[in-house]
Amino acid sequence: MEELKRAVAKEALSFIEDDMVVGLGTGSTTAYFIEYLGKLIMEGELEDVYGLPTSYQARLLAIENGIPTLGLDEVDAIDVAVDGADEVDPNLNLIKGRGAALTMEKIVEYRAGTFLVLVDESKLVERLGQKMPVPIEVIPAAWRAIAEELEVFNADAELRTGSKKDGPVVTDNGNFILDARFHRIDDPLDLEIELNTIPGVVENGIFADIADLVLVGTKEGVKKLER
Ligand code: A5P
Repeated sequence: MEELKRAVAKEALSFIEDDMVVGLGTGSTTAYFIEYLGKLIMEGELEDVYGLPTSYQARLLAIENGIPTLGLDEVDAIDVAVDGADEVDPNLNLIKGRGAALTMEKIVEYRAGTFLVLVDESKLVERLGQKMPVPIEVIPAAWRAIAEELEVFNADAELRTGSKKDGPVVTDNGNFILDARFHRIDDPLDLEIELNTIPGVVENGIFADIADLVLVGTKEGVKKLER
């Protein structure tokens, strides 16, 4: 599995050119991409490339690997954003947010000229929600009200708790995460929009219609899925 992640991360380098601002996603697959990108920058193979991190994890990795970073409020445009995903459906709609970084990821990836997704083949599904819940970032005080509201959507929501921290996971933005299992997601774009109308919801992990290209690591090599 790690080999497949490394292979897509390497392939993604071919989309990066001098003078680009690159959105740096979060998670284990993008971590390889950040490592390889840093190497090219340090070796002088790429010049004037800046990373725009989507999380503390991405920022720390960028610093560790010698990638100069900029904040969202310092750039005019984002050329390419590169990130992993938890599920990819046949129309290239995604579920993201296992790492709780979905809000900044969506802001950066929505604004990017090209959004490139890196996954291994285990992430491909026929229908979103097949394997993974939809993470929803919520204002802490509203978590219970929103969990109850989600019952109207036929979803069971669970407050995400930490593994090396007691109590709820607190996101980079100081919020909580609800993991919502929906009975069936027929229209991802519609659900994505609907969820964001619930007061107290900051953002949700459905990324419909925003991926331009998905690189899939398979045992037979890297496959490209385009919209
Ligand atoms: C972070 O919040 C997530 O959206 C990740 O991008 C996603 O979970 C993919 O992570 P992996 O590459 O570790 O599977």
